[in-house]
Amino acid sequence: MTAAVIDGKAFAATLRTRVGELAAEFEAKAGRKAGLAVVLVGEDPASQVYVRSKGKSTLEAGMNSFEHKLPADTSEADLLAMVYALNADPAVDGILVQLPLPRHIDEQKVIAAINPDKDVDGFHVTNAGRLAVGQPGFVPCTPLGCLMLLQDRLGDLSGLNAVVIGRSNIVGKPMAQLLIAQSCTVTVAHSRTQDLADVVRRADIVVAAVGRPEMVKGDWIKPGATVIDVGINRVPGAAEGKTRLVGDVDYASAAAVAGAITPVPGGVGPMTIAVLLRNALVAAYRNAGLDLAADAV
Ligand code: GUN
Repeated sequence: MTAAVIDGKAFAATLRTRVGELAAEFEAKAGRKAGLAVVLVGEDPASQVYVRSKGKSTLEAGMNSFEHKLPADTSEADLLAMVYALNADPAVDGILVQLPLPRHIDEQKVIAAINPDKDVDGFHVTNAGRLAVGQPGFVPCTPLGCLMLLQDRLGDLSGLNAVVIGRSNIVGKPMAQLLIAQSCTVTVAHSRTQDLADVVRRADIVVAAVGRPEMVKGDWIKPGATVIDVGINRVPGAAEGKTRLVGDVDYASAAAVAGAITPVPGGVGPMTIAVLLRNALVAAYRNAGLDLAADAV
């Protein structure tokens, strides 16, 4: 058997089109565009690529993009002052501070300074708490994108066994919360988990978010399971000096056993920015006091 390939790129394109339609409706109703501010501190090349891509996508969706690039030696106090200014700016609906921050800045302190109702990353403890107790808030983009792909593929997830590999605040923990809310039986595995292969073999849904290239092997996968690969790992390529991207799942062996699987690239990756735009749009509706149906996007 060969798994169905879950086309995250196509799903993300559809989501972005829908967000664009709703952004136009928002503008007509609110008399202004929705606005997303992205703050980048320093010159990390990968972060620069992400931030450029976020800005471009935000404009394509018909929203305002406010990009703030600060030097690597920006003080924590100056960054906090920028966050406070964005909190107070009525044109800004969503605020994203690109991580990682330079070492001299306390990330948790910066995240805590963001108004939770503008925290489109869903990283603020208030939003983590809202997710944990089932109140409306903002959910981190990558796990929410994974959930959308799972629901698109499987419909109702209730009663399914889900194994999340990884316990980060950005992916693993919120992913587990989202799956619990969908009535899955959830196991969170991590680097200290014993007999990981046996744990994964029980899963109808596997979400791999560990950051270890091709760690999850095909013989760990229950036949027919749905495999979501969050990993983006750059490894040496076939040719001298070349690199290639691989996930946390050994794609070839897993695809021979799974019912469906996300590829890398083109699976989860494209979902993250699409969900960010979705979160920014939801923030705009909420901040303007306008209704948006729960299932609108
Ligand atoms: N760095 C890598 N991924 C992310 C993300 O989703 N949000 C932010 N703010 N920084 C990141």
